[in-house]
Amino acid sequence: MLIRTHQDGFIHPLSSEITSPEVYATRRQLLRQWTAGAAAAGLSVWAQREAFAQGGGVAAKLAALPATQSQIQGAMTVEKLTSQQDATTYNNFYEFGTDKSDPARKAHTLKTSPWSIEVEGLVKKPTRFNLEDIMKWGAMQERIYRMRCVEGWSMVIPWIGYSLSDLIRRVEPLPSAKYVEFITQADPQTMPGLRGGYLDWPYVEGLRMDEAMHPLTLLTFGMYGEVLPKQNGAPVRLVVPWKYGFKSGKSIVKIRFVEKQPLVSWEKAAPQEYGFYSNVNPKVDHPRWSQASERRIGEGGLLDKKRKTLMFNGYEAQVASLYAGMDLAKNF
Ligand code: MTE
Repeated sequence: MLIRTHQDGFIHPLSSEITSPEVYATRRQLLRQWTAGAAAAGLSVWAQREAFAQGGGVAAKLAALPATQSQIQGAMTVEKLTSQQDATTYNNFYEFGTDKSDPARKAHTLKTSPWSIEVEGLVKKPTRFNLEDIMKWGAMQERIYRMRCVEGWSMVIPWIGYSLSDLIRRVEPLPSAKYVEFITQADPQTMPGLRGGYLDWPYVEGLRMDEAMHPLTLLTFGMYGEVLPKQNGAPVRLVVPWKYGFKSGKSIVKIRFVEKQPLVSWEKAAPQEYGFYSNVNPKVDHPRWSQASERRIGEGGLLDKKRKTLMFNGYEAQVASLYAGMDLAKNF
């Protein structure tokens, strides 16, 4: 993002252990068989998570999170999955440092249980909810989303969660609520990056209400058949596949319904570079680099041919109508 030493963000230093869709599907089937009995009691699986994750880092054994394949239009891209190894070791999570390898090495200190989310602002009854309860508000679905980071790299990741709209309906926002703000964890005891002062903490993101209600906007609890690793935003994060990755806030602790467009972290830090909408748009360049193409992590780094970036990251059919009539160069 702002850190210039990472302009070479296309190169990732990791071995490329690509899991083919077939291998992954078989693994998933096995996981399902193993966890069939646990499906109804998915939350007891969740309760074991903390114990599994104590080791932290890449090697942590995480609990399975049972899910069914999503039937939502556009939610299951058939592109080759990014390897789980790459997706969990090449991350942005500035609360743990600015290097892509920092989150996997340092996020083990994040305490993810107990966890609650406070819902506040323009809702019928502002309330704090336990994560275990929130997890029951929607049926866990797997969705395979194309992800595009603002720095020019992309991945394809099998996420698990349910549409954020299920939560929003449940908490009954008032008609005056036009935007949703997501406030994430900021704990100096467990997040060493907070001392770096890269951003104004906590990390805050936001969506317009219709974007938040769009069925593709995923309240996310897991990936690759398991609960989220800490470096990927455990225990709960957002995934908004048609926007640059930074709109997908990690480790959410508060959801606030507001009338006015919130000032979100990167826009606050560098408004000339990062706008509120941040829709993936190959025609609107970042002031310091083109957004017309991208490199897929695991496909050979700098030596590999770039691929063209798609409008709305390939989700144009599903989301373009949200922006009808808007000047997307101005509203970047
Ligand atoms: N959320 C928090 N709380 N802090 C962050 O630094 N980084 C964002 C987003 N969410 C970030 C965050 C950015 S820049 C990206 S690209 C994605 O998380 C990366 O998610 P991933 O590591 O799962 O790929």
